[in-house]
Amino acid sequence: MDAYILDAVRTPRARAKPGKGALSGLHPQELLAQTLQQLPKRTQVDVSDVDDVLIGCVSQLEEQGANIARQAVLVAGWPITVPALSLNRFCGSGLQALSLAAMGVASGAQRLVVAGGVEQMSRLGLGADGGGTDGNNLRLRERLFQVPQGISADLIATLEGFTREELDAFGLRSQQFAVRAQAEGRFNKSLFPVKNPDTGEVLLAADDSPRADTSLQKLGALAASFTQTGAQPAGPNGETLDALALRAFPRAREVRHLHTAGTSSGITDGAGAILVASGEYVKAHGLKPRARVRAVSAVGSDPVLMLTGPAPASLKALKAAGLTPRDVDLWEINEAFAAVVLQTARALEIDLERVNVNGGAIALGHPLGATGSMLVGSALDELERRGGSLAVVTLCTSGGQAVAAVLERV
Ligand SMILES: CC(C)(COP(=O)(O)OP(=O)(O)OC[C@H]1O[C@@H](n2cnc3c(N)ncnc32)[C@H](O)[C@@H]1OP(=O)(O)O)[C@@H](O)C(=O)NCCC(=O)NCCS
Repeated sequence: MDAYILDAVRTPRARAKPGKGALSGLHPQELLAQTLQQLPKRTQVDVSDVDDVLIGCVSQLEEQGANIARQAVLVAGWPITVPALSLNRFCGSGLQALSLAAMGVASGAQRLVVAGGVEQMSRLGLGADGGGTDGNNLRLRERLFQVPQGISADLIATLEGFTREELDAFGLRSQQFAVRAQAEGRFNKSLFPVKNPDTGEVLLAADDSPRADTSLQKLGALAASFTQTGAQPAGPNGETLDALALRAFPRAREVRHLHTAGTSSGITDGAGAILVASGEYVKAHGLKPRARVRAVSAVGSDPVLMLTGPAPASLKALKAAGLTPRDVDLWEINEAFAAVVLQTARALEIDLERVNVNGGAIALGHPLGATGSMLVGSALDELERRGGSLAVVTLCTSGGQAVAAVLERV
């Protein structure tokens, strides 16, 4: 694709509980506006050239409603001529924004596009839009019962035969890698400190979720997070969510509840933004891009298992680029749950050595609509650090979908 990434920035990810967390006092438009403002500062592009601003956000209501992308452009003080679109492909939204931006500039329809994402989960938490897993359409539900993600993750772990110990070991790895990355400043290039817009005081300068004191022993002592959810009666005849999951996958025989707070992605606030340009724009302005978007993809996968799309999405994008998993130097597979990464790596037959080498959402958190755009910056920073060439970023999403992008350092 004739699509280039000029730069990628992100906020730190802040631990979020309803109404609590280092960034919880900030309006989501303000968080996104600060993120957008970083791009012209860092790249010296003229923002009046921006053809569109595409922003992923899952809970688009209340403060994140009213097309948050457009409101943030206005908050940022960008010219009123810069349009903006908010989009939702659940947890894949931030990467979907990059896909659309790359398609836009590669097609020749656009020259300069901002892609990004935002989610303030402390203010609008999981499921805030009230749509549940299926928009509460009982006719669809009768035909296809989509269970909550934690049940899907435990079902995948059961079907794949992963043990609690294997998941915990992955959770520990995520923490250790994230802590090492912070100590070595590996996130510094993308990160910028978020400030109180009234006082200028720094609210947060670094991700505050990683737990340096995590151990296998501590992880092993955590209670499974989705046992009670699985036991909830939800079907028309009082079937539990576990029973409904098993109706779709009887060969599992049971849903083993294995994921805990230590092996699931954390609830956080954050935003990310990426500046994408056409080859023609790069040339005309003598710019030095950081990477080229080689290919992008989206796939649908089983909606009950829900989280197994990253392998086919990655293969689809790699095939479009004429590549195979073996060609990839670095993988960012969103750590929605430990089993997602382990299942994806197994399906792709790739070694974990090149996967999420600086930790992931288990340690750092997962501000839903923002994470995809944040992972792009993390992948580019790490490719540059280690002198690698190709990275794949991929995320599973609710509803049984996934998105992927193949990036090449230039
Ligand atoms: C799994 C989940 C329910 C856990 O929620 P929670 O119980 O509120 O989790 P917390 O992260 O606050 O952790 C609770 C406690 O577990 C312990 N804990 C968590 N992670 C730990 C770790 N790595 N090591 C040791 N203890 C840990 C701590 O005691 C912690 O309490 P503290 O923060 O006061 O120290 C929630 O994180 C979740 O729903 N994640 C998935 C989100 C999701 O579905 N996203 C969309 C799809 S990808």
